Amino acid sequence: MTLILGLEGTAWNLSAALVSEERVIHEAESTYKPLYGGIHPREAAQHHASELKNVVTQALRGAKKEGFSLDDIDAVAFSQGPGMGPCIRTVATAARALSISLKTPLIGVNHCIAHIEIGRWQCGTKDPVVLYVSGANSQVLAYRSGRYRILGETLDIGIGNALDKFARYLGLSHPGGPKIEELASKGTEYVYMPYVVKGMDLSFSGLTTSAKDAINHHKTEDVCYSLQETAFAMLTEVAERAMAHLWKDEMLLAGGVGANRRLQQMLQTMCHDRGAKFFVPENKYLKDNGTMIAYLGLLMFNSGETTPIEKSVVKPNYRPDEVEVTWRDKSK
Ligand code: ATP
Ligand code: FE2
Repeated sequence: MTLILGLEGTAWNLSAALVSEERVIHEAESTYKPLYGGIHPREAAQHHASELKNVVTQALRGAKKEGFSLDDIDAVAFSQGPGMGPCIRTVATAARALSISLKTPLIGVNHCIAHIEIGRWQCGTKDPVVLYVSGANSQVLAYRSGRYRILGETLDIGIGNALDKFARYLGLSHPGGPKIEELASKGTEYVYMPYVVKGMDLSFSGLTTSAKDAINHHKTEDVCYSLQETAFAMLTEVAERAMAHLWKDEMLLAGGVGANRRLQQMLQTMCHDRGAKFFVPENKYLKDNGTMIAYLGLLMFNSGETTPIEKSVVKPNYRPDEVEVTWRDKSK
């Protein structure tokens, strides 16, 4: 059995988890909540620095209660990117220190791929088209010949970011996505919004601007409803085209925005209409979590991949298609 300690802290959530092939042994987390405005990278990093000791200690104590000791840990995995520079540097420093003191290898993992692999593990889907929607990212991906290929993506901001920005404009606290969802559920009238799909790519920033304008003439609930309907229809269109072109019959939702019930419903309908299966992990595995980092670390460790300290420098713009996937074909 392999036991991996995983650390996540690319943005708002600091989390540490211990995972084996069989199960999640323990996860601990501490959330940074901005007093006002959005996530401030330096403040989030300071939050992570001051909470690291607590969170890691909690995770290790949890594992001890389950009968594991420090000696059982085979490697320390951490989010090498993408993410906010100050945040990922802080957590990477802790991961390096832990790997040295535990005398175990270090494994730098790609945060986006961790979102995908935890979903595949939790839902038991083998070869899905993935819709990965979070604060900073919006991508449609699928695995082919040793890599997760990006088939379509946002050309500007992530969908979560678009929702959070509009929510902030309404005076709502961060994160805004769930609050927009709540308001949207009471909307009845569709207000025109720009629908921007270019080939397989998407754009959301104009949508936020348009929602800000619309609020002067329409009910807040209707604007939230229209914003969601438009953005989610765009995502569903691109996700469906990816499935059609690749002849795939499974779809996996990943990332924090995946918690949105209306988005889930639209994707479910699309999959149902084309005879495909739709998979969504529990909310705790959609949002940023240490378990997904530990789990991808485990897959990498078991296929012989570790990261020497001199190659552990963080990558704020780390793209999933930069990663050579060495663990998938082997496990087939
Ligand atoms: P990444 O680094 O992968 O971009 P992230 O730091 O944005 O991740 P996640 O936890 O994956 O973190 O996603 C957070 C985003 O999810 C926020 O923008 C938040 O508003 C959004 N979100 C959470 N719940 C909902 C919801 N119910 N509806 C819409 N958006 C939601
Ligand atoms: Fe994320």
